[in-house]
Amino acid sequence: MKIYFITAFPAMIQAVLAESMFRKAAEQHLVEYQVWDLRDFTTDKHRQIDDTPFGGSPGMVLKPEPFFRAYDKLVKLTTPGAYEIIYPTPQGKILNHQLAVELTHAQDLIFFCGHYKGIDERVVANLVTAEISIGDYVLTGGELPALVIADAVIRHIPGVLNCYESAESDSFADNLLEGPIYTKPRVFRNLAVPEILISGNHAKINQWRYAQRLKRTRERRKELLDPRPEKDDIGGKNG
Ligand code: 6GU
Repeated sequence: MKIYFITAFPAMIQAVLAESMFRKAAEQHLVEYQVWDLRDFTTDKHRQIDDTPFGGSPGMVLKPEPFFRAYDKLVKLTTPGAYEIIYPTPQGKILNHQLAVELTHAQDLIFFCGHYKGIDERVVANLVTAEISIGDYVLTGGELPALVIADAVIRHIPGVLNCYESAESDSFADNLLEGPIYTKPRVFRNLAVPEILISGNHAKINQWRYAQRLKRTRERRKELLDPRPEKDDIGGKNG
């Protein structure tokens, strides 16, 4: 998969891509990144990327020309129908597990990062294939959401995580939150790990873990369980 970021703040993107899982995925040649500076697609002396909105209203709007020029270059590098041009915006469809998995099927992901009041609608209507929001709150720009979306997608590419199953057993893969986890020491400042986990009885441990996930989901995110019948609850005293 190739991921393009078209942005007025390329350093913001590069800083994140240079670390951790983003970096490892690229080192293993599982993904490739291209970060394009929106200003490189301007033609005027001042490299202007924004202007005031027609009809009047506060704030600035990102101009269409730099995005259309970036698109002209992109189409020469991508396969028609095999890419998604994503505009991260609070007006978009809210990102979830299912959408992240769907996006792994694209050959190329292209992020058009907006700023200020947004991007000229002609870009959105004619070039963008998906408008995606990362939640009901407003951020100052599309760079962080683009990185959030890219992270949620690439961790589903086989080989990106050390253990591929760990993405599959994650919260939301089966609409359940994760349960509590513990590591050594067994007792710390008089706080003990649940006895069941050191029992060596793996059938019982799995049963306990599943019950913990159900309990937590019911307490914190009941709406995730709605279609699930109560009889699925196989919890014991902690369940
Ligand atoms: Cl995708 N963009 C911005 N600017 N703010 C947001 C968002 C996106 N998702 C939630 N808030």
